[in-house]
Amino acid sequence: MTEHFGTIESHPVHHAGAPETYAPSAAFREQARINDPSVYWRAAEDPENYWAEQAQNLQWTKPFTEILDWSNPPFAKWFADGELNVASNCLDRHVAAGLGERVAIHFEGEPGDSRSITYAELTHEVKRAANMLTSLGVEAGDRVAIYMPMIPETIISMLAVARLGAAHSVVFGGFSAESLRARIDDAEAELVITSDGGYRKNRVSSLKPTVDDALALHGGGSTVQKVLVVERTKNDVTMVPGRDLWWHEEITAFDGDHEAQGFPAENPLFILYTSGTTGKPKGILHTSGGYLTQVSTTHKNVFDLKPETDVYWCTADIGWVTGHSYVVYGPLANGATQVIYEGTPETPTWGRWWEIIQKYGVSIFYTAPTAIRSFMKLGSEIPDQYDLSSIRVLGSVGEPINPEAWRWYRDVIGAGSAPIVDTWWQTETGAIMIAPLPGLTNLKPGSAQVPLPGISATVVDDEGNPVGNGRGGLLVIQRPWPSMVRTIWGDDQRFIDTYWEKFGDQYFAGDGARLDEDGDVWLLGRVDDVMNVSGHRLSTAEIESALVEHSSIAEAAVVGASDPTTGQAVVAYCVLKAQQELLTDDNAEAELKKHVAAQIGAIARPRNIYVVAELPKTRSGKIVRRILKDLAEGREIGDVTTLADTMVMSTIQDKIAARQ
Ligand code: PRX
Repeated sequence: MTEHFGTIESHPVHHAGAPETYAPSAAFREQARINDPSVYWRAAEDPENYWAEQAQNLQWTKPFTEILDWSNPPFAKWFADGELNVASNCLDRHVAAGLGERVAIHFEGEPGDSRSITYAELTHEVKRAANMLTSLGVEAGDRVAIYMPMIPETIISMLAVARLGAAHSVVFGGFSAESLRARIDDAEAELVITSDGGYRKNRVSSLKPTVDDALALHGGGSTVQKVLVVERTKNDVTMVPGRDLWWHEEITAFDGDHEAQGFPAENPLFILYTSGTTGKPKGILHTSGGYLTQVSTTHKNVFDLKPETDVYWCTADIGWVTGHSYVVYGPLANGATQVIYEGTPETPTWGRWWEIIQKYGVSIFYTAPTAIRSFMKLGSEIPDQYDLSSIRVLGSVGEPINPEAWRWYRDVIGAGSAPIVDTWWQTETGAIMIAPLPGLTNLKPGSAQVPLPGISATVVDDEGNPVGNGRGGLLVIQRPWPSMVRTIWGDDQRFIDTYWEKFGDQYFAGDGARLDEDGDVWLLGRVDDVMNVSGHRLSTAEIESALVEHSSIAEAAVVGASDPTTGQAVVAYCVLKAQQELLTDDNAEAELKKHVAAQIGAIARPRNIYVVAELPKTRSGKIVRRILKDLAEGREIGDVTTLADTMVMSTIQDKIAARQ
């Protein structure tokens, strides 16, 4: 930890106390949903009551009388004696309120097909799907794996599972068969919902074949009984009789009558796997009432949502937490109209996103710094060709946004005036925790700034003592919050060890942070062995174990190196086995990159792989990653006196120099 600390303090992205601030315009402040700063102290005086008030915005089939039960930390319960149905909060209640004709989803397919779905239609489709899932044996408490592209049926599937009180485990469509299988096994899913394929970069990404491969692994036996397949791309797929069913054929038997039943607030809603410091992904468990309360409240307040008039677009894939909280549950609980887009930003041209904003009149736009930096590299000519004047709020998520990208985003996409909300949160927090409120906060480019009302976060030193303004340390959340992770699926001990061991009842987020002179929070990146590549979390240990599974690799070390576009990039150092014939200096990099992509998924593909004779180690045999990171980032390598053999470094340096 101390070793990482040095890196954090000297992190080059931020300059704490930067004088540059942007106050909300009088016009924005005037119309903003929240423009009275007293919300902060009122919530701080009695946070539990603040959240209970927010929870009242949901529809409860049985009202709660308890707010927070923290009698058995770190296992929190929120609103535990209340009951609700998450899906009907996102659907039926809006229809009952007369909003059935409002568009819930404008779907834009990558090839150019589009479809707009109203709340009434979405409700109808979810009810039919719920009936179909019931016929396939899905019951409250079960787990359903979802491996899908960004199409409406993905959202319909999630809501149908939730409607039945079952839990979904959405697996990002870019993950490999191995990764999918590990997630299916860990959650013991009995049903997989997938599609024949999806469109990405003008190609069909084949999803069903990957499900087949996943289920054939480890001798074939798995918990999965049925595979439900949505037809999207009409590519050839093999259907296994008795196991595989076409969605469009099955659904014809079911009508739209389905009464939603209330489930306890702590009923599991979903498991979402994320990378940790060890090789095995963690199944982050979220439950119902507290989660829905916080995602809906933050979605409304942070984006200043006016559901009657706004068109909202979050570009995240549903396979990540941002897709769960700010494509599915937050916006739909709030009755928002939103855009979802299937494909990549450059297909067919780099104007695609701006064309979509123009087409639907998007007014709230939420994306990641890595995307902004990719656009920024191409200049303003492309976005300037489109009418982006509908935009009034911009959001950022996934990693710190460097001030240069922040300014470009505001000037070019936000017409020099849209407030940018830089939202800090995690898969584990479930919802946004630290972010400006656009009608109140004087924005500082590069800082997520202030814990939201009802949230208490601060920066502490290694012993857990608050560092105070102007100092750096580790980010902690001091009190339980409604959408917090409840446990790691099947592994309570790992939950305790990962987040609570270090500081007792304060949640340790794994991020370094700094408070500036005003007390605003500046996030400085992970302090553990988790990398952040294009806003996606990857574990060094997971990629290392994928590499050593290759028959020619004896040892591997992986580091996250800073990268101008993706934030960080994966750099791997590998030692080959003595007697192996497969890899040569010429083919090793390509072959090993392919291997990692096949083992984990394309997102984990290393940017560079260096085959080296030895790895730098301490006398006790520990790999010194700090030095490998210096090297990968082109820095002068630091202190090597702890190495067992200092010569190792010069041979590695020679090797890298020869490759450049
Ligand atoms: O390091 C922080 C970074 O992303 C991590 C969480 O990753 P994940 O669970 O995949 O969720 C990403 C989307 C919520 C955090 O520990 N991170 C996320 N948002 C920001 C951020 N770092 C700085 N600023 C942010 N706005």
